[in-house]
Order: sequence, then C-alpha cells, then structure tokens
Amino acid sequence: MPAGHRHYLMCPPTHFTVSYEINPWMDRSTPVDTALATAQWERLRDTYLDLGHTVETIEPVPGLPDMVYAANGATVVDGLVYSARFTHPERAAEGPAYLKWFADHGYVTHLAEHVNEGEGDLLTVGGRVLAGTGFRTDRAAHAEAAALWGREVVTLDLVDPRFYHLDTALVVLRGTDGAPDTDVAYYPPAFSPAAQERLRDLYPDALLAGEEDAVVLGLNAVSDGTHVVLNPRATHLAGALRERGYETLGVDTSELLRGGGGAKCCTLTIRHAPDPDGAP
Ligand code: ARG
Repeated sequence: MPAGHRHYLMCPPTHFTVSYEINPWMDRSTPVDTALATAQWERLRDTYLDLGHTVETIEPVPGLPDMVYAANGATVVDGLVYSARFTHPERAAEGPAYLKWFADHGYVTHLAEHVNEGEGDLLTVGGRVLAGTGFRTDRAAHAEAAALWGREVVTLDLVDPRFYHLDTALVVLRGTDGAPDTDVAYYPPAFSPAAQERLRDLYPDALLAGEEDAVVLGLNAVSDGTHVVLNPRATHLAGALRERGYETLGVDTSELLRGGGGAKCCTLTIRHAPDPDGAP
C-alpha cells in the first residue's frame, strides 16, 4: 500500500437520529435532518476518496442511530480487531454488528472482555496507543488492548463531559510506526492534571488547541499525515495546522454534531499488518 494511503470503514447515517441523550451534545427536542446528515456524510466520504483513500461501508442497522459513528465500532491495529463493548445499553448491539463485518471480511477478531468504545478512546500514534478513560472506556480495557497488540498503552483521564471520548479532545496528526516523528494536537483542559503532564512529557512540541476550536469538536479530525479533514468552524486550529505544514480540508458535519460527533467519529481506520506507514 503506498505511503499515506488509508483504509477507512464508514456507516451511512440512514437511521441517524437523536432518540436518547448519552452525552451533553445530544438534545432530543430538536428533530434531526437525516437528509442533511446524509449529504454531509457523503461529502466526508468523497473527500477521502478524492484523497485516494479506500472507503468501505457497513450496512446501517435500523434502531441503532449512533452506528454512524464508526470510530466507536472497533479498533484495528496490525490487522487485529479489538471489538467494542459499549457503556450504554442503547449502543450495545453496535459492537456485535461491527465485529461481524470484520469477521465476514476475513479479519482476526478479539471479543473484548472490558468496556471500550473503539477508536473513540484508543488512538494509535507511532508504536503506542493513547487510551482515554473517565466517561466511557474502562481502564481495564487498556490493559486488555496492550496484551492483544503487544503495544504500550498510555492511560489518559478525561475530565470534561463535553469531551467524553479521547478523539473529541486529541487528534493524531502524524504517527509513523516505530519512527520518532509523531505529532498530535489536543485541548489540555479536557484532561486531568496527571494526563496533561503525561502528554507534555510524551509530546513536548504538540499543538495545543484553544477552547473555541475544541467546543466545535475541531479536534475530532482525521489526518493522513499530510491532509487534515476537520470542521470548517475550527478556524484557529486550521491556521495553526497550516503553519505546521498540513493541508487542511474543511468538511461541515454540523448535523452529525447533533449526536456529539464529527469527522473522526464517523471514520474507523483499518490498520493492516505489517503497517509500514503507521496510519494514525
Ligand atoms: N452519540 C454518540 C455517543 O455518545 C456519539 C459518539 C461519537 N463518537 C466518537 N468517536 N467520539 O456515544
């Protein structure tokens, strides 16, 4: 696979709606415009295709409105699929639905024992995995994932309910496997003091995002190491990324934000083994 090429799995928002509230972004009182959500989702998919990436889709299941947030469906590192196990019963059936897709497509799968919400809380950067906890993923899952992949897993405590998944507060910009040139951006106040210190130690040159970009979920972005797809309202962040040499692509996912997710939430990265390029 050429360097920089990515393999994504996405789920169309056919059944997307806000029928329950499990994060502070969700509000049942305003109806969701499914047609608009679909148009925005298609634009996101087409952006990846235009960049030359591979996008596969999973069949959406009626009654699972949050299934559009594919990043939560599993975590795939070195071709090994670690299944999701959801905190809330409303999303429980998504775990088996995604796991079945991977099993049907010939992947080696591992059924998780502990609660974890996929790439929402497990982000690969270089040889290590950054793992969020505090709202959704159980810290016991961090150890389970470390054993499965044989990788260092760094636990980071999240403290602000608006940033309930790690991928709402931190984006992996570059993460070539085993090489030192990793790059991340994050919003420090979303993390406990100890986690902030850990991040400072690990990534002294990280890009620190401000509140105005964080509150539009600007950090819920997707990077292929060169291009960063993000909310066009995250203007400060986009400027800072361009200064660092990234090409930014604004894709409006405002209707999907109604469920508490942005571009990254809708995008699951399939990392194959061996992974010469270390897809972030
Ligand atoms: N409504 C979903 C939830 O609260 C949104 C998930 C967003 N996904 C993400 N990767 N942060 O579970």
